[in-house]
Amino acid sequence: MRVLVVGASGAIGSRLVPQLIENGHEVIGTFRSVTSAGKVQALGAQPVALDALDADAVSALVTDTKPEAIIHQATALANVRFSRSLDRTFAATNRLRTEGTDALLAAAKHAGVRRFVAQSFASYRYERSGGPVKTEDDRLDPAPPASARETHAAMRYLDDTVTGAGGIALRYGGFYGASDDGLVGLVRRRFYPMVGDGAGVSSFIHLDDAAAATVLALQHEGPGLYNIVDDEPSPMREWLPEVARIVGAKPPRRLPEWLAKLIAGDGMVMMATASRGASNAKAKAELGWTPRYPSWRAGFRAAYGQPVTATSQT
Ligand SMILES: NC(=O)c1ccc[n+]([C@@H]2O[C@H](COP(=O)([O-])OP(=O)(O)OC[C@H]3O[C@@H](n4cnc5c(N)ncnc54)[C@H](OP(=O)(O)O)[C@@H]3O)[C@@H](O)[C@H]2O)c1
Repeated sequence: MRVLVVGASGAIGSRLVPQLIENGHEVIGTFRSVTSAGKVQALGAQPVALDALDADAVSALVTDTKPEAIIHQATALANVRFSRSLDRTFAATNRLRTEGTDALLAAAKHAGVRRFVAQSFASYRYERSGGPVKTEDDRLDPAPPASARETHAAMRYLDDTVTGAGGIALRYGGFYGASDDGLVGLVRRRFYPMVGDGAGVSSFIHLDDAAAATVLALQHEGPGLYNIVDDEPSPMREWLPEVARIVGAKPPRRLPEWLAKLIAGDGMVMMATASRGASNAKAKAELGWTPRYPSWRAGFRAAYGQPVTATSQT
């Protein structure tokens, strides 16, 4: 297939392009910063500059390049500074998930592109009651933290709009596997504290596994919504000390909820204490996907690890 990957130079895009090519696809890869052009070319794609918020440019690109499929992986999170307000941190990404999605879907419709796959997110979005692990059929959080309302609304908009148009939205877990991973950098510096009881559940996914699931989704008929996460959703009190150990950092500092709320905001406290994880059963059954790293423990070890010791065996 001739595939247009929007955001080919990003964390997931740069893992996805080589896997698409290995699977026989021809890839046109977009980037935003001029410095990323060489990266996209080195990955084996035809590089094209694109601002996905410029609807005319999006339309012209899709008309000119005539892809058979579009994969929307554009976010604006590189070097972003996390603030107390997740909505401020994610403002540009939220526009890419709403206006960018609209522009790409309109261009796809105009040019008769039938397949559309887009990046969504699984962790921290499901209703914070009931069991610790949620499926795609479970309710999303009806009352997200005040500082993350726009971010939740943008992801919901993407899910609804993409599936409404017959496409596939992939709710990825928290990405890891990149050498410059933001989370790992913070854990190494002990800037990622354990908050309250650390009962909030997270779902992770290695970037290579996320890319493999995306290749399979491209070959699958939509509409569809899939959690692309590993087999082991875990509470912060389990994963954070273990990740610290794996990357050779000192144990995380501890913060009470009230202080974490003051310093990091209500969104962070929710993630640490109340969030739910996601189930990958549907993606396994319907896409035929099997993660190479079913546990974040083995995945983080492979990506950042010290030698395995008896106590780090799972
Ligand atoms: N995706 C998530 O939900 C998420 C959440 C939390 C943390 N993170 C972390 O954040 C870090 C960076 O993530 P990332 O690679 O997803 O983000 P990114 O580096 O900001 O970029 C993703 C892709 O989107 C492109 N892009 C940016 N603005 C665009 C625009 N206006 N129009 C079209 N394309 C645009 C980028 O191009 P250029 O390379 O040219 O800029 C890049 O190809 C990673 O460590 C990741 O793990 C991601």
